[in-house]
Amino acid sequence: MNVLVIGNGGREHAVIQALKKSPKVDKIYAMKGNAGIGELAELVNVDYCDVKAVGDWVDAHSDVEFTVVTPDDPLALGLVDELESRGHKAFGPKKNAAIIESSKAFSKALMKKYGIPTAEYEIFENYEDAISYVETCNIPVVLKADGLALGKGVLICQTRDEAIAGVKEMMLDKKFGSAGNKIVVEEFLEGPEVSVLSFTDGETIVPMITSCDHKRALDNDMGLNTGGMGTFSPAPFYGEKSAKEVMEKIMLPTMKAMNAEDRTFKGVLYFGLMKTKNGMKVIEYNSRFGDPETQVVLPMLDTDLMEIFQAVVDGNLKDVDIKWKDGACVCLVLASGGYPESYQKGKEITIGELDSDVVLCHAGTSIKDGKLVTSGGRVLGVCARGRDIEDARKKVYSNAEKIRFDGMYYRKDIGIKYRDIIKE
Ligand code: AMP
Ligand code: GLY
Repeated sequence: MNVLVIGNGGREHAVIQALKKSPKVDKIYAMKGNAGIGELAELVNVDYCDVKAVGDWVDAHSDVEFTVVTPDDPLALGLVDELESRGHKAFGPKKNAAIIESSKAFSKALMKKYGIPTAEYEIFENYEDAISYVETCNIPVVLKADGLALGKGVLICQTRDEAIAGVKEMMLDKKFGSAGNKIVVEEFLEGPEVSVLSFTDGETIVPMITSCDHKRALDNDMGLNTGGMGTFSPAPFYGEKSAKEVMEKIMLPTMKAMNAEDRTFKGVLYFGLMKTKNGMKVIEYNSRFGDPETQVVLPMLDTDLMEIFQAVVDGNLKDVDIKWKDGACVCLVLASGGYPESYQKGKEITIGELDSDVVLCHAGTSIKDGKLVTSGGRVLGVCARGRDIEDARKKVYSNAEKIRFDGMYYRKDIGIKYRDIIKE
């Protein structure tokens, strides 16, 4: 079957690499894709946030039997609804379910209503009210813009002055645009963080292997929040005990809550969790595969991804036996100097001879005048599987040295985090 994949990041490159292994998949189209994706798929230059234009393109390409929608914005804009209304099969939640990511106010209220463990919070739409709250609340405190802000709309404020300045940045200066019209002010939680992605068709929910992201730009979790600077899988502190707790207290209750709200969620539901001294708590939900979590999770999958996608859409996920490989996987993001703030594009990328078991997931790359150049903040993910995280980490770092572009930077500590935390 021919498949269209929506998106242009490292995550989509990883999805397409996994789909390429499926005997069910013939040709892949990618909208809009990037230079790496272009080696595996035919690139389609249509703006995927224009849901009508995507619908028209799929209508006109009768050979495309299935569309996979991975980025958050087209999901929040209702691309899956649009395609289904035109009679096409599409993987991903509908707009009324994607809200679990696109509105933090919605997801916090959902968790409160259904008793799903998360940080205590208050919501503000008025600047003065928010300021008077942070003038007296416990510190540290966490500020979150309500809407989508590319994973960057979160401020962890260690002092009261930072909190007051943060409210001003979000609500008055509109640092995150209209996403900051409404803000969530949240209790600061402590503990190791883990991303647990899951497949769900609304009746069955199957967790994927766990992973850990590194959201801050610099080593030792310093610097600004980014979309993610690197990942490893699995999380050593998340064993059967945590998996059971999360399934019973978080995953099943969330799936059922969405059904009860008439917002059945079908697709990938991502749980961003923190293991606190009071148990596992939800930090965030995403309505899609994580980036760069997908780059370490899918290489560990030992089941046909296309079969899973079809089962989710057809509502028979319970019939699929989803298996995972042994060992571990690490992904290191090579970023443009300046990211997550302003950075330059169009820098030529040179790649030496990489070891055969290292896989590159292209994120912000394109071809210009026949040359591979940077076109985004996160440029490449260097990924490798190994016997364990340390083994995978060594492969990734020794190969990252063979890649160059002007201004390139990367964290030196991906995979080290949590290594001293007791295994579960
Ligand atoms: P989010 O976009 O909601 O995942 O937040 C980005 C990052 O901010 C998370 O991965 C956490 O590291 C941190 N964070 C978010 N909420 C909290 C919280 N309530 N307490 C401590 N850290 C948090
Ligand atoms: N890596 C976090 C995210 O995809 O939102």
